[in-house]
Amino acid sequence: MHGDQVSSPPEPPATIDPNLPSAARVYDAFLGGTHNFAADRAVAARATELVPDAPRNARDNRAFLRRAVRFAASRGIRQFLDLGSGIPTSGNVHEVAREAAPDARVVYVDVDPSAVLYARHLLGADPLTRVVLGDAQRPELLLTDPTVRNLLDPGRPMCLLMLAVLHFLPDSPALDAAMRAYRDAAAPGSLLAISHITGGTRPEEMDRIADLYNRTGTPLVPRNPDRVLRFFDGWELVAPGLVYTPQWRPGPDDDERADPASSLTLAGVAGLVTDATPAS
Ligand SMILES: C[S@@+](CC[C@H](N)C(=O)[O-])C[C@H]1O[C@@H](n2cnc3c(N)ncnc32)[C@H](O)[C@@H]1O
Repeated sequence: MHGDQVSSPPEPPATIDPNLPSAARVYDAFLGGTHNFAADRAVAARATELVPDAPRNARDNRAFLRRAVRFAASRGIRQFLDLGSGIPTSGNVHEVAREAAPDARVVYVDVDPSAVLYARHLLGADPLTRVVLGDAQRPELLLTDPTVRNLLDPGRPMCLLMLAVLHFLPDSPALDAAMRAYRDAAAPGSLLAISHITGGTRPEEMDRIADLYNRTGTPLVPRNPDRVLRFFDGWELVAPGLVYTPQWRPGPDDDERADPASSLTLAGVAGLVTDATPAS
């Protein structure tokens, strides 16, 4: 990975406040990355006190990302739009996709300027990847963004990845409209992959983590499976459906959990329902 060749992260511009934790950098801290500040590490440490397997959930999520991307590549998909991509870490979308298809194209999108800065630094001048600063809730801007349009062909199947990002977006008409817009813009053969925090069998622990994030200025919205399923309206889940992340098509290389249902993250991948009635 490009990041392995980089000695140290770039200095953040003045617009990035190192004292304000960011979801991207807290997640990087969970994953043992180096692109985070003391304030981020403090949140990650406190979250791990509250829920000792929080870092494990982050690793499970990355493992799901790899399996979902391989699945999409196995379906012939060669274009990926990674919404809420975070700070690149080992096993990035383009690396995994290229194992199957060296010509795979990936646009990474994140709303956090520090994630975009680090991603651009780590990915370097790769001609088949781009990093865009943008809000996943603004598909009308993202899907017409020249950088996105120059790399991804909207007329061909695409894999939309929304991994560990929707739980940072509170319910709103804008969020529902955004999901509809992505679906309506997707070419036949496209896939939507989602992973999402849930209370599952451990709602009190999840409430404590949500409270911690909320106090640091980042809303965290755990959702139950029925609500997460609604994000797939107009899409048809492939087997095994919406399940706990470690249960989604685990492979031989995956670290097995003794009890997959102890996970705090749901995951699913869906194909487009081409005959879905358009939402009003
Ligand atoms: C926990 S990280 C997940 C990173 C990666 N998708 C993964 O699953 O490994 C969540 C990311 O979503 C980003 N994010 C939050 N709200 C967003 C929004 N409205 N649009 C785009 N990105 C957003 C955060 O900045 C953060 O980088």
